[in-house]
Amino acid sequence: MARSFSLLFFLLFSLFFVALTSSELHSGGSDDDIIIRQVVPELGDVEGSEAGEEENLLTADHHHFSIFKRRFGKSYASQEEHDYRFKVFKANLRRARRHQQLDPSATHGVTQFSDLTPAEFRGTYLGLRPLKLPHDAQKAPILPTNDLPEDFDWRDHGAVTAVKNQGSCGSCWSFSATGALEGANFLATGNLVSLSEQQLVDCDHECDPEEMGSCDSGCNGGLMNTAFEYTLKAGGLMKEEDYPYTGTDRGSCKFDKTKIAASVANFSVISLDEDQIAANLVKNGPLAVAINAVFMQTYVGGVSCPYICSKRLDHGVLLVGYGSAGYAPIRMKDKPYWIIKNSWGENWGETGFYKICRGRNVCGVDSMVSTVAAVHTTSN
Ligand SMILES: *[C@@H]1O[C@H](CO)[C@@H](O)[C@H](O)[C@H]1NC(C)=O
Repeated sequence: MARSFSLLFFLLFSLFFVALTSSELHSGGSDDDIIIRQVVPELGDVEGSEAGEEENLLTADHHHFSIFKRRFGKSYASQEEHDYRFKVFKANLRRARRHQQLDPSATHGVTQFSDLTPAEFRGTYLGLRPLKLPHDAQKAPILPTNDLPEDFDWRDHGAVTAVKNQGSCGSCWSFSATGALEGANFLATGNLVSLSEQQLVDCDHECDPEEMGSCDSGCNGGLMNTAFEYTLKAGGLMKEEDYPYTGTDRGSCKFDKTKIAASVANFSVISLDEDQIAANLVKNGPLAVAINAVFMQTYVGGVSCPYICSKRLDHGVLLVGYGSAGYAPIRMKDKPYWIIKNSWGENWGETGFYKICRGRNVCGVDSMVSTVAAVHTTSN
């Protein structure tokens, strides 16, 4: 019985995919257009149209690659490196197409990460270490959820600083932590102050209480809760401008206690319940969240809601808001989504932001959510 059920499910699922794929083919190669649209507004200027079909395709790939290089200022040390990156780029075009099919409510295509293999991307632009919770972490108290606004965005209330860029350093965790404290500090003091990730990268070596040697490690990754624990012990974080970001972890700690701009009062973890997450967001400010970032390498815009996405957490980001009706997947009603601030600059995603659907812990987005409270400091 169970077996025939899963067979039926499999059949239905396959049919769905076939329908999806063929509908894209029938709409005149829109599958390609989605990707090409990101790099070439018009296809008319592709050179070499007198050549054969296959050559055309090759020319098109070359064309996309040269536009990609120009747009993101890419240059390669040798011809060998260039050829290798072109191969990776082409594989990523195919991957973006697959992501587009699995995630039709978002747009997937060329990003600044299109010349990186998934492993290189994971190793260099993410940086979440799933450490155990520090002893000082508490469970967030259960909040009432009946009067939550339909839509909410902390950007409209001045609690979110400009999008930052972690560069090629696995320091996402430090950006997620500063983002949450920036918001909490804004709520506590009325001032929005950009805080120093570099202080966390250089000075925070806080460890997993249960696992020796598993610690916050600069560009090699860390965890937001552990960063809050460090900040609690150190006394606070300095301003971005007083301790600017360098994107490397080779420097020594230059923390100056007399220049603390924001301090942690306490921090707590929120349950998987999405209404609790929303209630904590509205009450306490932007939240530090972990996510699986595999679809983010090719994300260009829209609400990401992949049919299948791993819940293995590898990236730390900032939850800043939610919307009630952002996208309508085929034959379904409008679905709600989370608004997420990322740390890959404004040229990534929707001017640096990401939207992901709510409702079923997609890509693990509800699994590790924490809130921080700031102390009022007079040095602001
Ligand atoms: C955390 O600190 C804030 C500000 O001092 C306080 O209002 C709140 O009750 C504290 N929360 C917990 C869970 O202790």
